Amino acid sequence: MNDQKIACNCHNVTYGKIREAVKNGAKTAEEVAKVTGAGTACGKCKEFLEYLVRDFAEE
Ligand code: FES
Repeated sequence: MNDQKIACNCHNVTYGKIREAVKNGAKTAEEVAKVTGAGTACGKCKEFLEYLVRDFAEE
């Protein structure tokens, strides 16, 4: 996966930032939101964030 890709447009959060948050212990999209802000504006990316978090957690 391309770490430079934007997962959350509202907050400019990249895949890489999500991956890092998961590596640092975030286990859910909510926990990732707390550290990155992803998903806390329009909310459109929320479902996708959950998918990403699950995916990175399996790595
Ligand atoms: S795209 Fe993530 S909150 Fe809007």
